[in-house]
Amino acid sequence: MEIEGRTLTPREIVKELDKYIIGQNDAKKNVAIALRNRWRRMNVKSDIQNEIIPNNILMIGATGVGKTEIARRIAKISDAPFTKVEASKFTEVGYVGRDVESMVRDLMEQSINLVKTKKKETVKEKAEQMVEEIILDALIPPIKGNATVFKPGIENNTDGTEIEKQLTDVELNEKTRERFREKIRNKELDDRKIEVSVKTPGNSGVGMIGGGMIDEASMINLQEMIGNMMPKKTKKRKVTIEEARKILMEEESAKLIDMDEVKEEAISKAENSGIIFIDEIDKIAGKGSKGSGPDVSREGVQRDLLPIVEGSAVSTKYGVVKTDHILFIAAGAFHVAKPSDLIPELQGRFPIRVELDNLTKADFIRILKEPKNALTKQYQALFESEEVEIEFTDESIEDIAEKAFHINEEVENIGARRLHTVLSSLLNDLLYDVPDVIGANAKIVITKEMVDEKLSSLVQNRDLSQYIL
Ligand SMILES: Nc1ncnc2c1ncn2[C@@H]1O[C@H](COP(=O)(O)OP(=O)(O)OP(=O)(O)O)[C@@H](O)[C@H]1O
Ligand SMILES: [Mg+2]
Repeated sequence: MEIEGRTLTPREIVKELDKYIIGQNDAKKNVAIALRNRWRRMNVKSDIQNEIIPNNILMIGATGVGKTEIARRIAKISDAPFTKVEASKFTEVGYVGRDVESMVRDLMEQSINLVKTKKKETVKEKAEQMVEEIILDALIPPIKGNATVFKPGIENNTDGTEIEKQLTDVELNEKTRERFREKIRNKELDDRKIEVSVKTPGNSGVGMIGGGMIDEASMINLQEMIGNMMPKKTKKRKVTIEEARKILMEEESAKLIDMDEVKEEAISKAENSGIIFIDEIDKIAGKGSKGSGPDVSREGVQRDLLPIVEGSAVSTKYGVVKTDHILFIAAGAFHVAKPSDLIPELQGRFPIRVELDNLTKADFIRILKEPKNALTKQYQALFESEEVEIEFTDESIEDIAEKAFHINEEVENIGARRLHTVLSSLLNDLLYDVPDVIGANAKIVITKEMVDEKLSSLVQNRDLSQYIL
């Protein structure tokens, strides 16, 4: 994200993250530094720019303490291409080595979108004019040439009296068009339907070629190649003007931007400011056992990951992307495996280790109340849509946090995720009763007593809480 056209400073990044994530200051700080370092490197003037490699980060923390949430938020904050993958997906059956490269392809896809959106913004005005013209032509087709037939028209005289004036067809047509242009601009005709021709890419229908013998990159290229050779079909569709405006904007702005330029810029953006978040990396950390089975493929995935993290060239359908300066952030709970179970080469590529703290009851209280997307706020919004107001007393929130913490200790520690299950058990009946029993304009106050009544029996009964909470 940018403020007044400049990138955020580390402190500003942390402040942004603070709006959504409670605690975890160490992780936030390191992420903020890494993000800012991308910008710093790009502003290095000398040759050393190319030598500065990103300090990849490994986030270690129990389940449900905010690892993925941090990733999600930096995706929004950084004005950089960002993609998130689950490392475990590469150990699935049917995995072939080069699939790992798909993360770079995804990143490139994001980058293209970013650059395209920016470029579209610059041609927006022009595209809007063109779209207006097309819609107008569909409504009132222009008459060409100088027709000589005169038609009576009405025009106001200077003194306000109407006089009859002879207008040519062309003039009449022009006048009508101007009137409608005004209406289109004011969105008065948005519900009216017009016919627009939409281009649909020629379908190649070669999804099956190769049958696993061919890797994804070549597959995509092949499909595109064949797709481009097929004639583009235009299809006529009847849509409302509102919808037509969207479809046409898409088409007209695409015509106005230079795709080669977009590709070039997007490659540079992905290479220099791209961020790849590899979640669940502990799932590919084998114990180094010699046995067969999943461990082999886990280490295999690490080996495949290595060149990408170390820097290699990956071909995408937009061109070759070099991964040397892409920032990688990996995260994992490391309950079973330890970071040292990763192959040494890979460990070395994640020099910054940050540990996320286990969440305390006090954190739970804050998580329930403070983040912009806090659970209590989410439920309030849900009830509000039915015009029912719901309020949580401070004591009730404390009690919810207390119970969630207790169950985490007793049953299984799933971190802040426990708050989701506890709150939904607490509020389910109310959600069911609105609006049939509890109608609009009602006000519900959640008190400590209510929380106790609803949840105490569940919390005290280990078996029950195992299943329900
Ligand atoms: N520190 C925190 N502040 C605010 N919300 C949090 C925090 N930690 C977790 N949450 C909330 O808990 C939920 C789960 O968190 P998240 O997905 O980040 O877990 P995780 O650390 O990635 O766990 P896992 O290892 O299981 O993937 C999210 O809805 C998130 O909003
Ligand atoms: Mg996660």
